[in-house]
Amino acid sequence: KSLRIGLIPGDGIGREVLPAAQDAILAVGSSIPKTEFISLDAGFECFTKHGEALPQETVQALKNECDGALFGAVSSPTRKVTGYSSPIVALRKQLDLYANIRPVVAIASPGERGSKVDLIVVRENTECLYVKQEQLITTSEGVKATATRVITKEASRRIGKMAFELALGRPRKHLTIIHKSNVLSVTDGLFRETIRGIPLSDKQYTEVTVAEQIVDSAVYRLFREPEIYDVLVAPNLYGDILSDAAAALVGSLGIVPSVNAGDKFVMGEPVHGSAPDIAGQKKANPLAAIRSAALMLRYMGYPDGADRIDNAVNEVLRRGEILTPDLGGTSTTEEVTNEVVKRI
Ligand code: NAI
Ligand code: MG
Repeated sequence: KSLRIGLIPGDGIGREVLPAAQDAILAVGSSIPKTEFISLDAGFECFTKHGEALPQETVQALKNECDGALFGAVSSPTRKVTGYSSPIVALRKQLDLYANIRPVVAIASPGERGSKVDLIVVRENTECLYVKQEQLITTSEGVKATATRVITKEASRRIGKMAFELALGRPRKHLTIIHKSNVLSVTDGLFRETIRGIPLSDKQYTEVTVAEQIVDSAVYRLFREPEIYDVLVAPNLYGDILSDAAAALVGSLGIVPSVNAGDKFVMGEPVHGSAPDIAGQKKANPLAAIRSAALMLRYMGYPDGADRIDNAVNEVLRRGEILTPDLGGTSTTEEVTNEVVKRI
């Protein structure tokens, strides 16, 4: 049986880095089944052309024709554009990809602060403020904007279980629950208590040590002593922010991958966005997208293929000769990609 992988390049550098991920998968050869790619449309340009940011054909093809998928990045304007809504947020919901798993690992260069980083941010992917129930209310007294934040016990429980399982499989077996329940005792309180309760009500996870940290001090400690973290589990917004912060510690957003995972489907996605500041300049670092392809293969049950890609990427990073400008190099997206492909 062959593998069918949906490719959603999106906008900006998403279109430059997804072909790199595709090349890496093709280079893996016999470690995975023969792979077919299905190109799918979504994003802001898709919206301006066709009037929808996430065509139903894309969702249907992912659901019915694909074994896995890779998403590049999309541009979402910061101003409100009528009718537009971020397709990645919608895709995560429609495919029930409830976990965003973001491993952040330092490039091995002993002595540097970043070199101690080896952690995974497990971000809840379906609720929190990203339910996007916002309102603008104008009254005689003034203008008020509100947003609803949704935390459910069920979603907290399943993301918590995923985080415990991940922690169990790692050498340090340490889990940190990120929250702000000193202020938001109802919503973050439910998140925290539900995850705290998992080892009492379910599988015991006796080997996993559990800590917790208020989100702001978690960012502080992440920068001062990143080595204390192993697996972090966080509600959607905190997880989004923490993982970009962690990316800064390891040198660039351009090397941090993720997967959006549900119980039945997985979609790889670099953590970075469409980077309009460097789009079209051949400067985009393809390594985050390539690592996302490896992570996708790992979650699809092809660890050998994933290892081959990861080892090649790590080798290129360790040698430090062929790198894009974000890592201090002068090479292009294509040159870095070719170097990885050669090593695979
Ligand atoms: P960004 O992640 O696109 O860029 C932040 C900074 O990191 C920029 O200076 C960029 O040049 C650099 N950077 C990011 N990826 C890089 C790579 N692969 N190689 C080299 N440098 C890289 O975040 P920004 O600028 O805040 O957002 C730009 C657009 O992307 C916005 O429209 C935003 O909505 C969208 N976005 C989309 C995401 C997604 O599709 N999942 C995630 C984050 C942002
Ligand atoms: Mg983000």
